[in-house]
Amino acid sequence: MTISTTSYTKDMDVDITKVLISREKIAKRVEELAAEISADLSNTKTDGELVLVPILTGSIIFVADLIRHLPHKIRIEVATVESYKGQTKKAKQAQIIGSLPRDVEGKRVLIVDDILDSGETIRLIRSELKKRNPMSINACVLLRKEIPSAMNTPCEYIGFDIPDVFVVGYGLDYQSYYRNLPDVCTIKVDET
Ligand code: IMP
Ligand code: MG
Repeated sequence: MTISTTSYTKDMDVDITKVLISREKIAKRVEELAAEISADLSNTKTDGELVLVPILTGSIIFVADLIRHLPHKIRIEVATVESYKGQTKKAKQAQIIGSLPRDVEGKRVLIVDDILDSGETIRLIRSELKKRNPMSINACVLLRKEIPSAMNTPCEYIGFDIPDVFVVGYGLDYQSYYRNLPDVCTIKVDET
């Protein structure tokens, strides 16, 4: 039985405005992304273990689905990044909490995150991991906002480009809630 977003909305007292990307569309795209990643891995001549670095907490559902379509010998090493919003909505600073995986030297690293917004998170993780001499570093996000900061951030694998709206579900949260919604939805957020 599938749970409809409307029943979720009622139960959770959420002000979900609409389903932006349905669970079916997500599932299809995740499979395609995994196929792209897999093909790129198989096409490189050099061997090197694949280390996935999912960014907590937003990427948990995405990475769980993605890895089940990656038939390779992979390691998963999570990283936690917190973004601190400044006075203005756009001023954000990302900070790594705890340690990053150390054993990435000579390995093929794939950073996995839920959404590319200011680009701070991906830029920071990429530059920190680079210091540990991996064979390669690529990044994969489910969503990318169609705004200059996101579009100008290098990222090799992108699930969907979306307008500059606040979204929840499929791992993405609003004040730590709604990560469990199966679809990516828009929500009324309190901007005050
Ligand atoms: P960036 O560092 O600004 O690119 O932000 C990436 C992080 O901000 C993501 O991993 C999310 O946790 C969070 N974020 C950005 N936009 C949204 C959104 O629309 N909904 C929920 N979280 C978001
Ligand atoms: Mg996040």
